[in-house]
Amino acid sequence: MTDKERVARFLLGGEVVEVADVSPAKSVLNFLREDLRRKGTKEGCAEGDCGACTVVLGELAGDEVRLRAVNACIQFVPSLDGKALYTVEDLRQDGALHPVQQAMVDCHGSQCGFCTPGFVMSLWNVYADCVTASGCGKRPSETELRTALTGNLCRCTGYRPILEAGQRMFDHPPVHLDRAALAQKLKGLQRSEALAYKHGNRRFLAPRSLAQLVAGMNQYACSNSQNGLRFTTAFLGEYDAGDRSFSYINAGHNAPVVRRSSGSIERLTLGGLPLGIQQDSLYESGSIALQSGDWLVIFTDGLVEAVNQADEEFGEQRLLDVLNMGAAVNRQRCWIG
Ligand code: FES
Ligand code: FES
Repeated sequence: MTDKERVARFLLGGEVVEVADVSPAKSVLNFLREDLRRKGTKEGCAEGDCGACTVVLGELAGDEVRLRAVNACIQFVPSLDGKALYTVEDLRQDGALHPVQQAMVDCHGSQCGFCTPGFVMSLWNVYADCVTASGCGKRPSETELRTALTGNLCRCTGYRPILEAGQRMFDHPPVHLDRAALAQKLKGLQRSEALAYKHGNRRFLAPRSLAQLVAGMNQYACSNSQNGLRFTTAFLGEYDAGDRSFSYINAGHNAPVVRRSSGSIERLTLGGLPLGIQQDSLYESGSIALQSGDWLVIFTDGLVEAVNQADEEFGEQRLLDVLNMGAAVNRQRCWIG
């Protein structure tokens, strides 16, 4: 394994930050405050409820950049790999407050200030999605602003001035985020191989595909299999809502059923051995198109090996019979067969 596969890399303030000697269980919040001395991001609840620690992540979605406000207190450092991290320190430019910050001042949107960096970052996420090089696009409605701020709590100012700031921020001279330049930089950080971050006895695996994920799970399972005595089955799937494709790998699991709206049945069998049996086992992936009205039924042994009072197994055939009968089915009738 190369160093590149072990080191997490992300953008902060436009520069690439490489991380290799931090526990993968360390939160982004603690990393910012303790390691990078960026103390603008605050800790409130430390469990993802209050929004005081809100930062914004920029990530590639195809050729575009998508921004997302997240809670830094429940985000692990290696999860930043390949992304751009924005904190409240990144907003001020050439000594001037960013329009979001200036609007919070104008509208008296802060009292004790503890929640303020979090609100500012959530508002900046909205602002940066609206303001482009050609000016301000469609402003968010109050409902959209409220939705964007649902994860941020303020105990002293009240929300009306903050919502006003969310409108007023567009009245200042626009400052736009150069998304094309950001996309270029992010492309330089993308990796084809999985990130396999390790520090002490802690690991963080970030696969880039289902195949990499199942290979990593299999290696881990093999290292704990007690010479093949312990193994596990798994079914891994990824649905792309854009093109309605469903990719999967079946590692020895009961083959899920696709019941097409026409009533025909398909089984999802492609994959390989259960995890933990063979170290370098190869796994074949499958892909199907799911259409409106299709059913994807994923089930475990617990269903098909369940027995009734007469010690009779439910069995896969009964499950298929149920699916063949369609949705309006009498459960008691199915069980008795
Ligand atoms: S500190 Fe409260 S959500 Fe992170
Ligand atoms: S300004 Fe004090 S908690 Fe919001």
